[in-house]
Amino acid sequence: MTQTERERETETETHTQTVTVRVPAKVNVQLAVGAARPDGFHDLANVFLAVGLYDEVTVTAADELRITCEGPDADQVPLDRTNLAARAALELARRYGIDPAVHLHIAKDIPVAGGMAGGSADGAGALLACDALWGTNASREELLDICAELGSDVPFSLVGGAALGVGRGEQLRTLEVGGTFHWVFAIAERGLSTPAVFREFDRMNDGVRIPEPVASQALLDALAKGDAGALAGAVSNDLQPAALSLFPALADTLAAGRAAGALAALVSGSGPTTAFLTPDVESARTVADALRASGTCRAVRVTDGPASGATVL
Ligand code: C5P
Repeated sequence: MTQTERERETETETHTQTVTVRVPAKVNVQLAVGAARPDGFHDLANVFLAVGLYDEVTVTAADELRITCEGPDADQVPLDRTNLAARAALELARRYGIDPAVHLHIAKDIPVAGGMAGGSADGAGALLACDALWGTNASREELLDICAELGSDVPFSLVGGAALGVGRGEQLRTLEVGGTFHWVFAIAERGLSTPAVFREFDRMNDGVRIPEPVASQALLDALAKGDAGALAGAVSNDLQPAALSLFPALADTLAAGRAAGALAALVSGSGPTTAFLTPDVESARTVADALRASGTCRAVRVTDGPASGATVL
């Protein structure tokens, strides 16, 4: 790029009045959880796969910071400064001495409180959108640093694809993926609070010596090969017993998907969304139809992964 082109691009960015960013949901194909740390968080070996359900965050210059939300679950989304999208805008503005007067609009398609990083997606999306709107041009490193401050899953929402998250899940190593994996997601009647699921994990493991969380080599190999059968044999979620303890009816959803031919059935992250891995798109549709007919969930979605991370549209 020549200097003139760079100047023109910077000028366009500076004067852009509206920016929209699309951000994917995630499923954890492995979620290994260690013992509670002194800071209350848990060390994880968290293998994230981004999947093709998306929120879109649109940011527009306004008189003051405000948030609106549309979508089937919009009434469950907080529209105050606790929303990760607002917190992202405020933090970027603070670091660059900018007035955070923007209207953040979230077109929400990722289930709320579902274990698919919907709130984290909005944080990463708002951050990238504000960076483009304000022309702050923060480095990737700084964006990731802000994401990690906002929440354990937010850096992955920015990056997408597949990654291993260690620490509390925010320290990422990008993973190679050798193919497309087909998934069905069953969205539950109500949400689950992530802290409540971790607390239940602690309660259920009270007095138990919990080993260090380690990523499964068989799982990483299956991802690298794009081998759905091998991935199905290796998926695991240490939070699943805790999610089932708080939401026992999820066992019926898991059983319905397994009976319909899913290669693997598991709770996504802290739940309560359940995830079904299938060998191809046709079997995904069969599993989806069976889940709808089972009456054990509120909605069913068919999609695939890996999906790209936060992207300016
Ligand atoms: O990082 P984030 O704000 O998304 O975490 C939400 C909650 O989930 C934390 O307050 C904590 O209760 C729990 N958590 C945890 N260990 C992690 C990540 C999250 O205990 N590694």
